[in-house]
Amino acid sequence: MKKKIVVAITGASGAIYARLLLMQLQKLSSQIAEVGIVMSKNAQDVWVYELDSKDYFDFPFTYYDKHDFMAPFASGSARYDTMVIVPCSMGTLGRIAAGMSDDLITRAADVILKERRKLILVARDTPLNLIHIRNMKTVTEAGGIICPATPSFYSKPITVEDVALTVVHRIVDLIGLEQESYRWSEDE
Ligand SMILES: Cc1cc2nc3c(=O)[nH]c(=O)nc-3n(C[C@H](O)[C@H](O)[C@H](O)COP(=O)(O)O)c2cc1C
Repeated sequence: MKKKIVVAITGASGAIYARLLLMQLQKLSSQIAEVGIVMSKNAQDVWVYELDSKDYFDFPFTYYDKHDFMAPFASGSARYDTMVIVPCSMGTLGRIAAGMSDDLITRAADVILKERRKLILVARDTPLNLIHIRNMKTVTEAGGIICPATPSFYSKPITVEDVALTVVHRIVDLIGLEQESYRWSEDE
């Protein structure tokens, strides 16, 4: 079955993760039925600041306003498989943990959890306070996956993009898509 995926982008540092994930999803489009994108205002500001570009609207996917509760994935009946929040701010994490559902991002996350589908939060901040840790615990207990925006270095990445891809490849694995990527202990 081809996957229906929501990608939410929030205002944590790491817009590069969102851009590279969208590029990877474009490459894997034969495995995907639908990608819906929703961004917070801060996500747009951080993207422009960090990537010196406004190319967040350049992907061949469907974009939804953050306040559009008529979006398909605002309802469980639309049967989206997976939602990725990348990067996920501590503010958005906290609103999801509290069940706020006050915009399309937190409503869609709430729906994914209640439908027992896959919610992947690429949480980004450091260091963490106890509130962040408790919120991560709450979301994990509700069935969500905390996938910290923490790169690995055992594949010996060289460029900033290579480093960021170590996180993006893990996200794509978690979504359940087949991709070619570095795998520990496999021949290169
Ligand atoms: C350049 C920049 C970097 C930021 N980085 C982070 C971050 O890494 N983690 C975080 O939780 N918030 C970060 N913030 C703050 C969030 O953008 C802010 O808390 C915002 O309210 C989050 O709202 P949103 O989740 O709706 O996008 C950053 C803000 C700016 C301007």
